[in-house]
Amino acid sequence: MTTDLQQIQDLIESEMRKVNAHLRKQLNSDVTLINQIAEYIIANGGKRLRPMLMLLVSQAIGYTGNQHINLAAVIELIHTATLLHDDVVDESDMRRGEKTSHEIWGNAASVLVGDFLYSKSFQMMLQANDMQVMSVLANATNRISEGEVQQLLNIGNIDMGENTYYETIKNKTAKLFEAACELPTILAGLNHKKRKQLAKFGMHLGIAFQIADDVLDYTANTDEIGKNLGDDLAEGKLTLPLIYILRHGNQVEKQLITNAIKKPNTVDFTQIKALVIQSDAIQYTLAQAQKQSEQAKFCIKDLPISDAKTALYFLCDHAWQRGQ
Ligand code: IPE
Ligand code: IPE
Ligand code: MG
Ligand code: MG
Repeated sequence: MTTDLQQIQDLIESEMRKVNAHLRKQLNSDVTLINQIAEYIIANGGKRLRPMLMLLVSQAIGYTGNQHINLAAVIELIHTATLLHDDVVDESDMRRGEKTSHEIWGNAASVLVGDFLYSKSFQMMLQANDMQVMSVLANATNRISEGEVQQLLNIGNIDMGENTYYETIKNKTAKLFEAACELPTILAGLNHKKRKQLAKFGMHLGIAFQIADDVLDYTANTDEIGKNLGDDLAEGKLTLPLIYILRHGNQVEKQLITNAIKKPNTVDFTQIKALVIQSDAIQYTLAQAQKQSEQAKFCIKDLPISDAKTALYFLCDHAWQRGQ
């Protein structure tokens, strides 16, 4: 029985080593700055959650080829490109426990190297030589951008409701999880129904993961998440805990959140953080993440019993429980 992340990592260790080696090899460029920034962000780690999912799903459905290694690297590159861009947009100064790349090399360099990573990932996906694979990845990448722009448009908008919140996080985060889980089914030639089940699994898991991430922005320690707390609030971004308080809090609480979102520069994060933690917003938010995790689990219930399947179940629990 798989019970912790370490055991999951052990399960896919040799394949993940191949993914990492492949990633590093692809980042070679004659342009030194590209090597520097790409190497900086890739070497600083990250949980490699999306490649991990891709490898586990491949195992769980009995895929025996080797195309998944390249595609897992593609997914991680797309993810890394979004982070380079996102940290510029969010003006975040810490990522993966280190200074963000734009803090070192500036916004222009980070955006351009993000573009390099995107286009590199498109070169790499050609290797699969499969239009369905291309279509999943092209759609996911496009939807991520839509999600980020959608979120930008709602900065400072205290009327944003849960529907828009879910729409945004599906696009900006869950779509790539979906792709990571759907791609192995294409490689393995599974039927349409199974393909859609695994895609749905990834979607629910990604939503749970992002909801928990939005909780962690209020409750975690910087050391735990390798990012600064309060980044969401600092940019006037409404996430589920605040949406909940705006709807269910008392007048004073609603007013505090409204001011914070409308005038982020004037905000005392400690005060808002205390308010969020004292309210039942965190409990509510995590309950929503848990529901998504349960829906994810339901999608894979018919897979044959295997260590990889157990690991996927574990990741479903982990996705929301990390927010506790
Ligand atoms: C960060 O993703 C962006 C979100 C979707 C919240 P991860 O938490 O997977 O980032 P790394 O790759 O482990 O740094
Ligand atoms: C991360 O989103 C970027 C994408 C999902 C595209 P966030 O801005 O919510 O996450 P962090 O907190 O910076 O990792
Ligand atoms: Mg961000
Ligand atoms: Mg962001």
